[in-house]
Amino acid sequence: MRVVTISGFKGGTGKTTVAALMGVAAVKDGLRVASLDLDRNTRNLSSFLTLRRASRLQSPDHVMLMDMDEDARTNAKPKHSGRLEPLVRMAKMDGYDLLIIDTSSGNLSDVYEAHLLADVILTPMNESPADMHGLFAPLGAAAAPRINYREMIDTVRFDRKRAGLPEQGWHVVMNRVSSLPSKIGGVINDRVAAMATEAGFEAVWRLRDRVVHRALALEGRTVFDTPSDGRLTMSELSGRSEVRALLALVQGAQAQHMPRAA
Ligand SMILES: Nc1ncnc2c1ncn2[C@@H]1O[C@H](COP(=O)(O)OP(=O)(O)OP(=O)(O)O)[C@@H](O)[C@H]1O
Ligand SMILES: [Mg+2]
Repeated sequence: MRVVTISGFKGGTGKTTVAALMGVAAVKDGLRVASLDLDRNTRNLSSFLTLRRASRLQSPDHVMLMDMDEDARTNAKPKHSGRLEPLVRMAKMDGYDLLIIDTSSGNLSDVYEAHLLADVILTPMNESPADMHGLFAPLGAAAAPRINYREMIDTVRFDRKRAGLPEQGWHVVMNRVSSLPSKIGGVINDRVAAMATEAGFEAVWRLRDRVVHRALALEGRTVFDTPSDGRLTMSELSGRSEVRALLALVQGAQAQHMPRAA
Protein backbone atom coordinates (compact mmCIF):
# COMPACT_ATOMS: atom_id res chain seq x y z
CA MET A 1 0.00 0.00 0.00
CA ARG A 2 1.22 3.48 -0.88
CA VAL A 3 0.60 6.22 1.66
CA VAL A 4 0.36 9.65 0.04
CA THR A 5 0.30 12.70 2.28
CA ILE A 6 -0.84 15.93 0.64
CA SER A 7 0.31 18.93 2.55
CA GLY A 8 2.12 22.23 2.95
CA PHE A 9 2.05 25.04 5.51
CA LYS A 10 0.27 27.48 3.19
CA GLY A 11 -3.52 27.31 3.02
CA GLY A 12 -5.62 27.23 -0.13
CA THR A 13 -3.00 25.75 -2.45
CA GLY A 14 -5.17 22.87 -3.69
CA LYS A 15 -4.44 20.06 -1.21
CA THR A 16 -8.05 18.93 -0.95
CA THR A 17 -8.65 19.32 -4.68
CA VAL A 18 -5.63 17.13 -5.44
CA ALA A 19 -6.69 14.59 -2.78
CA ALA A 20 -10.23 14.42 -4.16
CA LEU A 21 -9.21 14.15 -7.81
CA MET A 22 -6.54 11.54 -7.18
CA GLY A 23 -8.81 9.52 -4.91
CA VAL A 24 -11.61 9.35 -7.46
CA ALA A 25 -9.18 8.68 -10.34
CA ALA A 26 -7.62 5.78 -8.44
CA VAL A 27 -11.00 4.26 -7.53
CA LYS A 28 -12.10 4.51 -11.17
CA ASP A 29 -8.88 2.71 -12.14
CA GLY A 30 -9.98 -0.19 -9.93
CA LEU A 31 -7.63 0.45 -7.00
CA ARG A 32 -8.79 -0.01 -3.42
CA VAL A 33 -8.45 3.48 -2.02
CA ALA A 34 -8.82 4.84 1.49
CA SER A 35 -8.71 8.53 2.37
CA LEU A 36 -8.19 10.36 5.61
CA ASP A 37 -9.18 13.94 6.40
CA LEU A 38 -6.99 15.70 8.96
CA ASP A 39 -8.43 19.17 8.39
CA ARG A 40 -10.41 19.70 11.56
CA ASN A 41 -11.39 23.23 10.57
CA THR A 42 -13.10 22.84 7.22
CA ARG A 43 -13.51 19.08 6.66
CA ASN A 44 -13.58 19.91 2.94
CA LEU A 45 -12.63 16.43 1.73
CA SER A 46 -15.20 14.82 4.03
CA SER A 47 -17.95 17.17 2.77
CA PHE A 48 -17.01 16.47 -0.83
CA LEU A 49 -17.16 12.71 -0.28
CA THR A 50 -20.47 13.01 1.58
CA LEU A 51 -21.91 14.69 -1.52
CA ARG A 52 -20.56 11.86 -3.66
CA ARG A 53 -22.03 9.19 -1.45
CA ALA A 54 -25.43 10.93 -1.56
CA SER A 55 -25.27 10.71 -5.38
CA ARG A 56 -23.98 7.12 -5.23
CA LEU A 57 -20.78 8.06 -7.01
CA GLN A 58 -17.79 5.71 -6.67
CA SER A 59 -15.51 7.03 -3.93
CA PRO A 60 -12.61 6.12 -1.67
CA ASP A 61 -13.47 4.65 1.75
CA HIS A 62 -13.14 7.64 3.98
CA VAL A 63 -12.17 8.34 7.57
CA MET A 64 -12.41 11.76 9.20
CA LEU A 65 -10.09 11.99 12.17
CA MET A 66 -11.94 13.47 15.12
CA ASP A 67 -10.49 16.21 17.27
CA MET A 68 -8.16 15.18 20.04
CA ASP A 69 -9.73 15.31 23.46
CA GLU A 70 -8.87 18.28 25.67
CA ASP A 71 -6.49 16.26 27.87
CA ALA A 72 -4.33 15.32 24.93
CA ARG A 73 -4.38 18.89 23.69
CA THR A 74 -3.31 20.48 26.92
CA ASN A 75 -0.47 18.06 27.64
CA ALA A 76 2.97 18.97 26.31
CA LYS A 77 2.60 18.67 22.54
CA PRO A 78 4.21 15.46 21.26
CA LYS A 79 6.07 15.62 17.98
CA HIS A 80 3.57 13.19 16.50
CA SER A 81 0.21 12.16 17.81
CA GLY A 82 0.46 8.37 17.43
CA ARG A 83 -3.15 8.34 16.24
CA LEU A 84 -2.49 7.57 12.60
CA GLU A 85 -0.18 4.59 12.81
CA PRO A 86 -2.94 2.11 13.85
CA LEU A 87 -5.18 3.38 11.02
CA VAL A 88 -2.43 2.95 8.46
CA ARG A 89 -1.64 -0.52 9.78
CA MET A 90 -5.31 -1.51 9.52
CA ALA A 91 -5.62 -0.15 5.98
CA LYS A 92 -2.57 -2.21 4.99
CA MET A 93 -4.01 -5.34 6.59
CA ASP A 94 -7.35 -4.71 4.85
CA GLY A 95 -5.60 -4.81 1.49
CA TYR A 96 -5.95 -1.19 0.38
CA ASP A 97 -3.67 -0.19 -2.50
CA LEU A 98 -3.56 3.51 -1.72
CA LEU A 99 -4.14 5.71 1.31
CA ILE A 100 -4.53 9.42 0.61
CA ILE A 101 -4.15 11.76 3.57
CA ASP A 102 -5.44 15.31 3.18
CA THR A 103 -3.98 17.64 5.78
CA SER A 104 -4.56 21.14 7.06
CA SER A 105 -1.89 23.79 6.92
CA GLY A 106 0.13 23.99 10.12
CA ASN A 107 2.64 22.00 12.07
CA LEU A 108 0.20 19.89 14.08
CA SER A 109 1.09 16.58 15.64
CA ASP A 110 -1.34 14.60 13.40
CA VAL A 111 0.05 16.34 10.35
CA TYR A 112 3.60 15.55 11.43
CA GLU A 113 2.70 11.90 11.84
CA ALA A 114 1.05 11.88 8.40
CA HIS A 115 4.44 12.95 7.02
CA LEU A 116 6.32 10.37 9.01
CA LEU A 117 4.13 7.55 7.66
CA ALA A 118 4.05 8.72 4.04
CA ASP A 119 5.71 6.94 1.15
CA VAL A 120 5.13 10.02 -0.99
CA ILE A 121 4.52 13.64 -0.01
CA LEU A 122 2.76 15.98 -2.43
CA THR A 123 2.93 19.71 -1.79
CA PRO A 124 0.70 21.73 -4.07
CA MET A 125 1.60 25.36 -4.59
CA ASN A 126 0.41 28.15 -6.86
CA GLU A 127 2.61 30.44 -8.87
CA SER A 128 2.67 33.08 -6.15
CA PRO A 129 5.35 34.47 -3.82
CA ALA A 130 3.16 33.68 -0.79
CA ASP A 131 3.01 30.01 -1.74
CA MET A 132 6.74 29.91 -2.43
CA HIS A 133 7.52 31.54 0.92
CA GLY A 134 5.30 28.98 2.64
CA LEU A 135 7.73 26.40 1.34
CA PHE A 136 10.98 28.18 2.16
CA ALA A 137 11.17 31.65 3.69
CA PRO A 138 12.95 34.39 1.72
CA LEU A 139 16.54 35.05 2.77
CA GLY A 140 16.75 37.59 5.58
CA ALA A 141 12.99 37.59 6.08
CA ALA A 142 12.18 40.08 8.83
CA ALA A 143 9.43 37.91 10.24
CA ALA A 144 10.64 34.45 9.37
CA PRO A 145 8.05 31.79 10.23
CA ARG A 146 8.74 29.72 13.32
CA ILE A 147 9.38 26.73 11.10
CA ASN A 148 9.50 26.45 7.31
CA TYR A 149 7.70 23.59 5.70
CA ARG A 150 10.99 22.57 4.18
CA GLU A 151 12.59 22.41 7.65
CA MET A 152 9.78 20.18 8.86
CA ILE A 153 10.45 17.80 5.97
CA ASP A 154 14.12 17.73 7.00
CA THR A 155 13.07 16.72 10.53
CA VAL A 156 10.76 14.03 9.15
CA ARG A 157 13.57 12.69 7.00
CA PHE A 158 15.93 12.65 9.98
CA ASP A 159 13.38 10.80 12.12
CA ARG A 160 12.68 8.26 9.39
CA LYS A 161 16.37 7.61 8.82
CA ARG A 162 16.89 7.07 12.53
CA ALA A 163 14.01 4.57 12.47
CA GLY A 164 15.60 2.72 9.52
CA LEU A 165 12.76 3.65 7.15
CA PRO A 166 13.39 4.16 3.41
CA GLU A 167 13.57 7.62 1.84
CA GLN A 168 10.29 9.14 0.75
CA GLY A 169 9.52 10.93 -2.48
CA TRP A 170 8.64 14.60 -2.08
CA HIS A 171 6.97 16.30 -5.02
CA VAL A 172 6.00 19.93 -5.25
CA VAL A 173 2.96 20.15 -7.49
CA MET A 174 2.45 23.36 -9.40
CA ASN A 175 -1.31 23.79 -9.19
CA ARG A 176 -3.69 26.25 -10.82
CA VAL A 177 -1.15 26.92 -13.53
CA SER A 178 -2.49 29.49 -15.95
CA SER A 179 -2.73 28.69 -19.64
CA LEU A 180 -1.25 32.15 -20.25
CA PRO A 181 2.47 32.41 -19.53
CA SER A 182 3.34 35.24 -17.13
CA LYS A 183 6.51 36.88 -15.94
CA ILE A 184 5.80 36.11 -12.27
CA GLY A 185 5.00 32.50 -13.15
CA GLY A 186 8.38 32.22 -14.84
CA VAL A 187 10.22 33.77 -11.88
CA ILE A 188 8.48 31.50 -9.35
CA ASN A 189 9.14 28.42 -11.46
CA ASP A 190 12.83 29.29 -11.81
CA ARG A 191 13.21 29.83 -8.05
CA VAL A 192 11.36 26.64 -7.16
CA ALA A 193 13.42 24.66 -9.66
CA ALA A 194 16.58 26.16 -8.14
CA MET A 195 15.46 25.12 -4.65
CA ALA A 196 14.57 21.58 -5.69
CA THR A 197 18.06 20.10 -5.43
CA GLU A 198 18.95 21.89 -2.23
CA ALA A 199 15.69 21.02 -0.45
CA GLY A 200 15.48 17.56 -2.02
CA PHE A 201 12.16 17.67 -3.83
CA GLU A 202 11.05 17.10 -7.38
CA ALA A 203 9.29 20.08 -8.89
CA VAL A 204 6.60 18.84 -11.22
CA TRP A 205 4.27 20.91 -13.29
CA ARG A 206 1.00 19.18 -13.22
CA LEU A 207 -2.36 20.83 -12.85
CA ARG A 208 -3.76 23.77 -14.75
CA ASP A 209 -6.34 26.07 -13.28
CA ARG A 210 -9.58 24.61 -14.63
CA VAL A 211 -12.93 26.15 -13.81
CA VAL A 212 -14.43 22.73 -14.41
CA HIS A 213 -12.80 21.36 -11.23
CA ARG A 214 -14.60 24.00 -9.15
CA ALA A 215 -17.87 23.71 -11.06
CA LEU A 216 -18.06 19.93 -10.67
CA ALA A 217 -16.96 19.97 -7.01
CA LEU A 218 -20.14 21.89 -6.18
CA GLU A 219 -22.03 18.62 -6.63
CA GLY A 220 -19.30 16.30 -5.40
CA ARG A 221 -18.34 15.46 -8.98
CA THR A 222 -15.00 15.34 -10.76
CA VAL A 223 -13.76 15.17 -14.34
CA PHE A 224 -13.63 11.38 -13.85
CA ASP A 225 -17.41 11.10 -13.50
CA THR A 226 -19.39 10.66 -16.69
CA PRO A 227 -21.36 13.82 -17.54
CA SER A 228 -25.13 13.41 -17.95
CA ASP A 229 -24.90 13.85 -21.74
CA GLY A 230 -21.99 11.40 -21.87
CA ARG A 231 -19.74 13.94 -23.59
CA LEU A 232 -16.46 15.12 -22.14
CA THR A 233 -15.12 18.57 -22.96
CA MET A 234 -11.50 19.14 -23.93
CA SER A 235 -10.88 20.68 -20.52
CA GLU A 236 -12.30 17.61 -18.75
CA LEU A 237 -10.19 15.28 -20.88
CA SER A 238 -7.03 17.31 -20.26
CA GLY A 239 -7.89 17.54 -16.55
CA ARG A 240 -8.14 13.76 -16.45
CA SER A 241 -4.77 13.21 -18.04
CA GLU A 242 -3.06 15.67 -15.68
CA VAL A 243 -4.46 13.90 -12.63
CA ARG A 244 -3.67 10.46 -14.07
CA ALA A 245 -0.06 11.55 -14.57
CA LEU A 246 0.08 12.60 -10.93
CA LEU A 247 -1.39 9.28 -9.87
CA ALA A 248 1.22 7.43 -11.91
CA LEU A 249 3.87 9.53 -10.20
CA VAL A 250 2.76 8.60 -6.70
CA GLN A 251 2.47 4.96 -7.73
CA GLY A 252 6.16 4.97 -8.43
CA ALA A 253 6.55 6.19 -11.99
CA GLN A 254 9.55 8.35 -12.77
CA ALA A 255 9.01 12.01 -11.90
CA GLN A 256 8.76 14.31 -14.86
CA HIS A 257 10.74 17.45 -14.23
CA MET A 258 8.99 20.75 -14.47
CA PRO A 259 9.10 22.06 -18.02
CA ARG A 260 10.70 25.44 -18.47
CA ALA A 261 7.86 27.01 -20.40
CA ALA A 262 4.10 26.92 -19.84
N1 LIG B 1 -6.45 23.05 -10.50
C1 LIG B 1 -7.47 23.80 -10.06
N2 LIG B 1 -8.32 24.38 -10.94
C2 LIG B 1 -9.33 25.16 -10.52
N3 LIG B 1 -9.58 25.46 -9.24
C3 LIG B 1 -8.76 24.91 -8.30
C4 LIG B 1 -7.69 24.05 -8.66
N4 LIG B 1 -7.05 23.67 -7.53
C5 LIG B 1 -7.74 24.25 -6.52
N5 LIG B 1 -8.74 25.00 -6.97
C6 LIG B 1 -9.67 25.84 -6.16
O1 LIG B 1 -8.84 26.59 -5.25
C7 LIG B 1 -9.48 26.70 -3.98
C8 LIG B 1 -8.56 26.12 -2.90
O2 LIG B 1 -8.40 24.75 -3.18
P1 LIG B 1 -8.41 23.67 -2.01
O3 LIG B 1 -9.55 23.84 -1.11
O4 LIG B 1 -8.22 22.35 -2.67
O5 LIG B 1 -7.07 24.10 -1.24
P2 LIG B 1 -6.50 23.55 0.16
O6 LIG B 1 -5.03 23.61 0.06
O7 LIG B 1 -7.11 22.23 0.47
O8 LIG B 1 -7.06 24.65 1.17
P3 LIG B 1 -7.02 24.58 2.78
O9 LIG B 1 -5.62 24.94 3.18
O10 LIG B 1 -8.04 25.59 3.18
O11 LIG B 1 -7.38 23.17 3.16
C9 LIG B 1 -10.80 25.96 -4.10
O12 LIG B 1 -11.79 26.89 -4.44
C10 LIG B 1 -10.57 25.00 -5.28
O13 LIG B 1 -11.77 24.68 -5.95
MG1 LIG C 1 -8.16 21.58 2.21
